[in-house]
Amino acid sequence: MSQENAVFPMQGRDSEELLKELKDRQKQDLNWREGRVFSYVYDAGPEAMSLLKDAFNMYLTENGLDPTTFPSAMELEKDVLRMALDLMNGGSEAEGSFTSGGTESLLLSVKTARDFARENKPEIREPELLLPETAHASFFKACHYFDVKPVVVPVDPISFTADPAAMAEAITPNTIMMVASAPSYAHGVIDPVRELGEIALEKDILFHVDCCVGGMYLPFAKELGFDTGEFDLSVPGVTQISMDFHKLGYAAKGASAILYKHGHLMRRHQYFAWSGWTGYSVINPTVMSTKSAGPVAACWAIMNKLGKQGYLELVEKTQAAADEIRGAIADIPQLNLLGDARMNLLAFSSDKIDVFKLAEQMKKRNWYIQPQFAFGASPANIHLTISHGNLHGFREFLVDLKECVQELDNNEAKAAMVELPEEIAALFENPSPQLFSDLAAMFGGDGSEPPENMDEINNLLNAMPHNIRDQLITEFVNRMFST
Ligand SMILES: Cc1ncc(COP(=O)(O)O)c(C=O)c1O
Repeated sequence: MSQENAVFPMQGRDSEELLKELKDRQKQDLNWREGRVFSYVYDAGPEAMSLLKDAFNMYLTENGLDPTTFPSAMELEKDVLRMALDLMNGGSEAEGSFTSGGTESLLLSVKTARDFARENKPEIREPELLLPETAHASFFKACHYFDVKPVVVPVDPISFTADPAAMAEAITPNTIMMVASAPSYAHGVIDPVRELGEIALEKDILFHVDCCVGGMYLPFAKELGFDTGEFDLSVPGVTQISMDFHKLGYAAKGASAILYKHGHLMRRHQYFAWSGWTGYSVINPTVMSTKSAGPVAACWAIMNKLGKQGYLELVEKTQAAADEIRGAIADIPQLNLLGDARMNLLAFSSDKIDVFKLAEQMKKRNWYIQPQFAFGASPANIHLTISHGNLHGFREFLVDLKECVQELDNNEAKAAMVELPEEIAALFENPSPQLFSDLAAMFGGDGSEPPENMDEINNLLNAMPHNIRDQLITEFVNRMFST
């Protein structure tokens, strides 16, 4: 960025000119509009997108902070929550809150669990959250924010689903809640929710099912006859569920919910109220205070526009594409599908080619596929989330994928996944802040822009213990955001 652009402008500029500049700047981003991004973006088509924009715009400025001033925003939120609870078979006592995303829903769930335990099990001084190693990273963020100890349990190394016996064994007198995913983000597999629910009931602990990515998909897939297993609030023992609307609900970003089976017992532990200052009384059901009512308005609009019928059609088409993609990957001899994912998320690894190189090759052909590091039982792999926006281009994607795999296989007899060089591994035994800074600089030039080629960096990061990797990527991204 030039110095001229970097400082606060003296003169204002013409709106049209600014919008044109924004459009130009967008050209550096990957083109999701052609369905070339297998995650991050959920597009239900031009009519849906146009409604989202109009509804969002109508409520862009309304402030969700104060339901007495903007009661219509609260009513929209309650409508959305009623629809969500209906899909999740909440029953008559269930309540929820609309949040800004999956991460906020998980943060609130963990805070609620901690404060519920403080009230009901005051003997617990060091609360623990029981997590299969496939649970989303945001649970760790919640533990970090709210001083809860994460206890990680290995999953079944073939299916990548939570192992109920291992989970039961890891419960201690300090366990306040256990977690399952339906499905997990990384592998797209659904944990055995009923068996885990029985354990939660027997041990008298709370049980969160993370349906962030599955909440607006599984209920429809189940109705269409797909084998989803059990996942919702009707399963005995399940006390809370997160579900995102801004993923497979095709809402605008900033839309998720945390739902509680026993709303009157649980939800208030999330709230924060403060009138002990000189200003207005703050009563926040969720993390944010001032917030645009745009996301809830857009969410309400898309759910009512599509209705059950619309979502059933989206899921049916997406499932057909996901099955075709799964079949095609299974037929590529160099690739191995991980676990038995049956919905629209999947992961594959390879012991023939370097999957991080594959991601780079595909990027050169303008496809985004997501590299995932090895962790626990899971080898380095590529993740795909398939959604409506990917439907028109996925056969071309499969052709490119096959070609790239072949090219890599021709170039390298063996997978190039690296071991961490000994001298670098030794440096990490006693890492200094300077070391991370030097390594980040080594990876990313002056560090102010994302690097061109990620495969070598990913290979090195993959070979590191995650706590070292976490410090390094923090340093790396910190440099990237440097102004
Ligand atoms: C299972 C699961 N939980 C939580 C999240 C976090 O959601 P968000 O990115 O909306 O904060 C995701 C995101 O993909 C997810 O798949």
